[in-house]
Amino acid sequence: MSFCIAIDGPAAAGKGTISKAVAQHFGFAHLDTGLLYRATGAKTFEGLSPIEAAQTLTAQDLERDDLRSADAGQAASRVAAEPDVREALVDFQQAFARREGGAVLDGRDIGTVICPDAEVKLYVIASDEVRARRRHKELVEKGEEITFEEVLDDLRERDERDAARATAPLKPADDAVVIDTTSMSIEQAVAKVIELIEAKL
Ligand code: C5P
Repeated sequence: MSFCIAIDGPAAAGKGTISKAVAQHFGFAHLDTGLLYRATGAKTFEGLSPIEAAQTLTAQDLERDDLRSADAGQAASRVAAEPDVREALVDFQQAFARREGGAVLDGRDIGTVICPDAEVKLYVIASDEVRARRRHKELVEKGEEITFEEVLDDLRERDERDAARATAPLKPADDAVVIDTTSMSIEQAVAKVIELIEAKL
């Protein structure tokens, strides 16, 4: 049996945390598709072109320590605007989405492009300030020296680029359920999502 849960939304809205918890709850596999773009972007720091970086991506590239940094996020968002880079990463994501036993994929275009027939589609949002506060805390805890304002600017810049690009822009699928986590705790958001999925199982 395959069962695909597509979770999209802007940066730091809570997609990753919700996806992990939901995958664990249902025993599904989880793919953070942002990591594919972050790893592709990070490889361009070493001189590869974006398309070379995407075509030679390995499982090991996804384990680099620097992928969560704001620089890797910006590099990801730049390479992600290139149609040939996105194309190079489609097959892997679609095979993952239809694997036996169920899959949760989080990203920007899962419900619109990668898995348009997903059984469940969610679009997770939160206010800019709340997203920046959460991401700032996460980055500082990892030892990155970055201010709240820098994080806020970084998120807004990426969201604008992601939403404005011609190929697979950031937007909710017509049939996605929008979940605003601005005033929800993680536990509340996860409980709501589990409830929605259970209604479709
Ligand atoms: O989700 P995360 O913040 O790690 O994603 C990093 C960048 O990768 C995003 O800003 C976006 O440009 C790109 N991305 C994408 N499509 C996806 C996942 C991520 O374009 N499915």
